[in-house]
Amino acid sequence: MRFNVASIRKQFPILRRKINGHVLAYLDNASTTQKPERVIRALKQYYERYNANIHRGIHTLSEEATEKYEAARKTVAAFINAEPEEIIFTRNTTESINLVAYTWGRANIKKGDIILATEMEHHSNLLPWQALAKEKGAELRMMKITKDGVLIPHLTSPLKGEGSPLSLSLLRRGQGEVFAGYVKLLAITHMSNVLGTINPIKEIIKQAHKAGAKILIDAAQSAAHTSLDVKALDADFVAFSSHKMYGPTGVGVLYGKRELLEAMPPFLYGGDMVKAIEAKSDRYDTCHVRRLMAGARIMTGIIPVIPVWNDLPWKFEAGTSNIADVIAFGEAIKFIQEIGLENIQKHEAELTEYALEKLNALRGITIYGSQAITPPRLQAPGAPATGGQAAPSYNKRGQGGVNFSLHGPILAFNVKGIHAHDLATILNDYSIAIRSGHHCAIPLHQALGVPATARVSFGMYNTKGEIDRLVEGIKVAQKLLAY
Ligand SMILES: Cc1ncc(COP(=O)(O)O)c(C=O)c1O
Repeated sequence: MRFNVASIRKQFPILRRKINGHVLAYLDNASTTQKPERVIRALKQYYERYNANIHRGIHTLSEEATEKYEAARKTVAAFINAEPEEIIFTRNTTESINLVAYTWGRANIKKGDIILATEMEHHSNLLPWQALAKEKGAELRMMKITKDGVLIPHLTSPLKGEGSPLSLSLLRRGQGEVFAGYVKLLAITHMSNVLGTINPIKEIIKQAHKAGAKILIDAAQSAAHTSLDVKALDADFVAFSSHKMYGPTGVGVLYGKRELLEAMPPFLYGGDMVKAIEAKSDRYDTCHVRRLMAGARIMTGIIPVIPVWNDLPWKFEAGTSNIADVIAFGEAIKFIQEIGLENIQKHEAELTEYALEKLNALRGITIYGSQAITPPRLQAPGAPATGGQAAPSYNKRGQGGVNFSLHGPILAFNVKGIHAHDLATILNDYSIAIRSGHHCAIPLHQALGVPATARVSFGMYNTKGEIDRLVEGIKVAQKLLAY
């Protein structure tokens, strides 16, 4: 399909909105994306035509709702090359990560174990591990980033030939110090929500497995921009959110390898996650029930019920699910697939390069992280050497759908003399929506040595014209506040 940004924009009603007399330039896609007509319609249709609870009813509405809900699961599964049983619907990435921490983590992390994360993690991929480590007497360690905002310099900038070995010592050592215990889990983001850095996860997963660790990939930022093939990657757990992928809020995905999910205890307990309950009713006389109702303590030794957990994936989906939003999320993925992830990626890489060029031309700008978009070895034959700066993109995929881009469509920067919040406020006067603050990544900002950054992040509907407006807005802010 030919990529046509004008026709894509027409499908997003909100992009016609004017704020402060200006048409909206929405550059905050890393927070959440806007929703196309088709996703909004899917929500409306559910409530107007087949609103019913799923998996339980035998009436037509319930059957239709169940069919569409499970069809959405199949769509999500196919999108990342997983089996439908390996796709658990949660509320968001945060809940998906917490699910793993509560269930797999509590069952597998022991005193003295090491959970390894990185300095570029969103708090959602740090705090659940910090809590788990505290509870279990384990240690949470963080891999440092370089000044270019990358983790493993020899793998990313520049890539030296195929299959550069990622030293196992990275997993066994931190800052030259040998870890006392074993790394049981590596929790790592695929794409930084601040710097846009894309970590070479295929190689990292390989090395994590060699070191005997399981790996959780936080794909909240990458899922709408890069291809993810969980089988080719051999990922253990992958978490992402619908709302960052043109789908509704309130839906997250946890992919887990079947054998891991099967071995894990449930997360939430209640309806739908249990297949059968053997009630030991003979142990209960009415008197006992009365004592229970009066708040008396349950006698020890009595096991009231023996549950048999439901099959995957429902074992992890207790209670009534977010049916409408899951169905609409399925539509969002079909929409991405029809436009084509590679087309989207190419467009967003062009926008990122353009923004880098325009922002770099401004006075007093600091852009954080690496500015290399594409590894040198993947440049087209005969392409001029770029020294890692704003290279033309040839975002080819490696084997198994692994993406070799180095940079996603996210840029964090500061303008000398202007606080990021002030910049965002002035830009809002011109209806240019950007994000300012620490973006739930305080350790990363500590590593960068700044309390806050301004962040722009692009989606499939953004244009170079909007970047021009951003640059003009920054110039206005400079005139007002800095120069
Ligand atoms: C890298 C990353 N991880 C996790 C999250 C949390 O996502 P959610 O708020 O959908 O749970 C975000 C949100 O911005 C993110 O950028």
